Amino acid sequence: MTQATAIIVGASSHLSRELAKQLADQQVELALFAQDVESLREFASTLPTKVQVFSLQIEQPSAIIKQLESVWHDLGGAHLVLVNTGLNSYDPELPWLPEQDIIDVNVRGFAAICNTAFRLFREQGYGQLAAINSIAGLRGGPSVAYHASKAFAQNYLEGLSMHAQRLKLPITITDIQLGLLDKAAMQQSTLWLAPLPQVAAQIIKAMQQGKRRVYVTKRWCLVAWLTKLLPEFIYNTRHWKPKKSKK
Ligand SMILES: NC(=O)c1ccc[n+]([C@@H]2O[C@H](COP(=O)([O-])OP(=O)(O)OC[C@H]3O[C@@H](n4cnc5c(N)ncnc54)[C@H](OP(=O)(O)O)[C@@H]3O)[C@@H](O)[C@H]2O)c1
Repeated sequence: MTQATAIIVGASSHLSRELAKQLADQQVELALFAQDVESLREFASTLPTKVQVFSLQIEQPSAIIKQLESVWHDLGGAHLVLVNTGLNSYDPELPWLPEQDIIDVNVRGFAAICNTAFRLFREQGYGQLAAINSIAGLRGGPSVAYHASKAFAQNYLEGLSMHAQRLKLPITITDIQLGLLDKAAMQQSTLWLAPLPQVAAQIIKAMQQGKRRVYVTKRWCLVAWLTKLLPEFIYNTRHWKPKKSKK
């Protein structure tokens, strides 16, 4: 396969559209998976390369496995599978249903996609599996299932990477640890927030360099380092104590 081809799973967010745009600018052919296919068609038609759009049923692992296999065979394989799906919510009452939804998307669905991509790469003999993960997975946190699901993703990717090395196969696994950009945006922190094109460019550069793990943007490496270092009694206070209202 000479033409560079990438499959993006979860292609409707602003970040994944920017990633698709920058990859298309580099003449990479794309297969985009999204929940709402129709909303992506117009965007896909603006890209300067061949782009196909497919529907995504991540809550049903057997369906997404079949969809991925079918698209893979139609494309004749791919160089890159980029997983960008993710679900997050916060409710201090911790009702079960949102937790279950997060586990369905971020754990069951994520594992089904990564497991299938890895198998297809193994049959093909090479490839790169990259996933947009979060530094939220480094510790527990108030969005309980979300933080735990991101830790699952990190360990799942590490396991796949170890497996590829044992099989002596040139399959690169890249864990893209995104900073808490939503939180930075909410707090209007220009220090921790970066323009979307810069975020996407750093992700693409890290994938092209075949990085195993990368923090995006780079300065979030500092937060990740601190997060891992803090003793639990300080870390807990940061996360659980309600902020005093300013009067
Ligand atoms: N944004 C941040 O600040 C931030 C920070 C750290 C890590 N992350 C992680 O980075 C990744 C990308 O985040 P993002 O900000 O680009 O977008 P996002 O709004 O978190 O959503 C990511 C993608 O997941 C898809 N998705 C969610 N639930 C789904 C479901 N039930 N079925 C199918 N698709 C579903 C979304 O599709 P629809 O649009 O069709 O729902 C979207 O394309 C996620 O894993 C996220 O957890 C984000």
